[in-house]
Amino acid sequence: MHFDILTLFPEMFSGPFGTSILGKAQENGLLSVDLWNIRDYAIDKHRVVDDTPYGGGAGMVFKPDVLVRAIEEVKKDSSAPVIYLTPQGKVFNQQIAQELSTLPRIILLSGHYEEIDERVRRGWIDQELSIGDYVLTGGELPAMVLVDAIARLLPGVLGDEDSAEQDSFSNGLLDCPHYTRPAQFRGVSVPDVLLSGHHEKIRVWRLKEALRRTWLRRPDLLGLKELSAEENLILEEIKKETSVEGRFKDNESN
Ligand code: ADE
Repeated sequence: MHFDILTLFPEMFSGPFGTSILGKAQENGLLSVDLWNIRDYAIDKHRVVDDTPYGGGAGMVFKPDVLVRAIEEVKKDSSAPVIYLTPQGKVFNQQIAQELSTLPRIILLSGHYEEIDERVRRGWIDQELSIGDYVLTGGELPAMVLVDAIARLLPGVLGDEDSAEQDSFSNGLLDCPHYTRPAQFRGVSVPDVLLSGHHEKIRVWRLKEALRRTWLRRPDLLGLKELSAEENLILEEIKKETSVEGRFKDNESN
């Protein structure tokens, strides 16, 4: 998969994209990234990319001519969608990451200043995404978040193919608790079932604990998911086992 990223600060990407899983995935040819410096498309002497807003007020606006020159250059040989990172966009989630990971190429536009000129938004942007209901200084970190979430879903990027499937959200639930050696740590033992070697019992335990965690921490997710007959039964069991008080406590400790 190929990512084109339009930004005023290409140097911000070198750390996150050069190390760990994203760095290795690029070395192995599983993904590629081109960074486009928007300032290169400002053609006046001072390479100005922003201007004051019509109607007055605080904040600056990205100049439409500069942005459109940059977008059109990137789009010259591609029909890839242009995704603008903005707090006004649809909130990014695992399902959107999964959908985008099936595309061969996407173009990400990191905004800065107050906003982009509305005419660019209407004419050259295919999708607007936000990474949450808070405002950052620019769209660079959101672009990195998108690339990271999408890249780890591409075949071969994670060492163990199964690990993305087990993720929180991938089946509409939070992930179940995990344990590793030693079986006893500071007086706390690993649940017996995980040491039993009984695959079916382990599967049911994991499903139950994923459902419990989701019900306790993110009940809103259960409203969005169509539960199977087995999941419904297990959830009823959990509700009987867990007191309202316990639910409140778990939420507080998040
Ligand atoms: N730019 C500034 N804040 C943002 C956010 N929350 N999501 C996406 N882009 C942004």
